[in-house]
Amino acid sequence: MSRNIDRLSSYRDMIDRRLGQLMPEEAGLYQKEVFKASRYSLLAKGKRLRPFLCLSFCEACGGNAEDALDFAAAIEMIHCYSLIHDDLPCMDDSDTRRGVPSCHKAFGYSTALLAGDGLLNRAFEVMSAQYEKVSPLGLLKAISTMSASSGVYGMIGGQVIDLRCENRLCSKNELYKMAELKTAALISGACKSGCYLAGSDEEKANAAYEYGHAIGIAFQIIDDMLDVEGDDKKVGKPGHLDEQNGKNTFVTVYGMDKCRDMAKELTTKALDYANMFGQNGPLLKDLALWLLKRDH
Ligand code: IPE
Ligand code: IPE
Ligand code: MG
Ligand code: MG
Ligand code: MG
Repeated sequence: MSRNIDRLSSYRDMIDRRLGQLMPEEAGLYQKEVFKASRYSLLAKGKRLRPFLCLSFCEACGGNAEDALDFAAAIEMIHCYSLIHDDLPCMDDSDTRRGVPSCHKAFGYSTALLAGDGLLNRAFEVMSAQYEKVSPLGLLKAISTMSASSGVYGMIGGQVIDLRCENRLCSKNELYKMAELKTAALISGACKSGCYLAGSDEEKANAAYEYGHAIGIAFQIIDDMLDVEGDDKKVGKPGHLDEQNGKNTFVTVYGMDKCRDMAKELTTKALDYANMFGQNGPLLKDLALWLLKRDH
């Protein structure tokens, strides 16, 4: 287990370095502040789960992680934009993120809003520039996957459900759909696009999607649990914010014990899909098990 999880840390360093290069410091009069705010949020301490998944699935399908690195880093930019906007007062109104003041607390609302917008566009600029490293067909499929999973039928759609469900009871179906879209969509998209970057067939890409879907729902269940029982310092964001915001979460709908069982069951499902990935199966299994036990 630990050897595979060590690999996550070494990939994290590689991803961090590349993110710093892809979103450089900028001296231009009009760009300076927005770049500074983007770098502030992007380079703060994150788990880098989504780029790691993209690289791991790329390798599991016979591709080269170095060739997929920029694409994977771009997925982190999309994720980071979603966090900046999620923390704004008109969304979850959170004062901290990744252990530091949230982007709007450090740079003001308008710069935070624009930094999020900038990260999203920069992500697609970086992705679409990879045509010399990756086969254009695989690249196109990967970009199409990421645009759908981050869009209105993906992550944004989940955020819409999340906000519409504030201060009223939502159904179990709505709760599931919310997690599926706001969280699992980007995670499963990262897995699937990694396969496409390696030129994989649909069968493997679909298995990667299913793995990502299962760990993605489990990820949101655990995120909801950490809001209640996590250590704010380790988690890097304020505790009990969901309750303050009148959110429907897996904890409010099912209770802690059932949440634990559900997350375990989803992880078991992910382990089955990991079997389809030969040599990389054990890494994907360890990752799913690590995520189940995470405290941050
Ligand atoms: C937080 O994502 C947002 C959710 C989808 C629950 P992460 O827990 O992956 O955040 P970072 O990237 O490690 O900061
Ligand atoms: C966020 O869900 C999902 C996103 C698309 C950012 P949460 O609102 O629960 O994420 P945290 O707890 O703020 O990280
Ligand atoms: Mg939210
Ligand atoms: Mg939030
Ligand atoms: Mg949360």
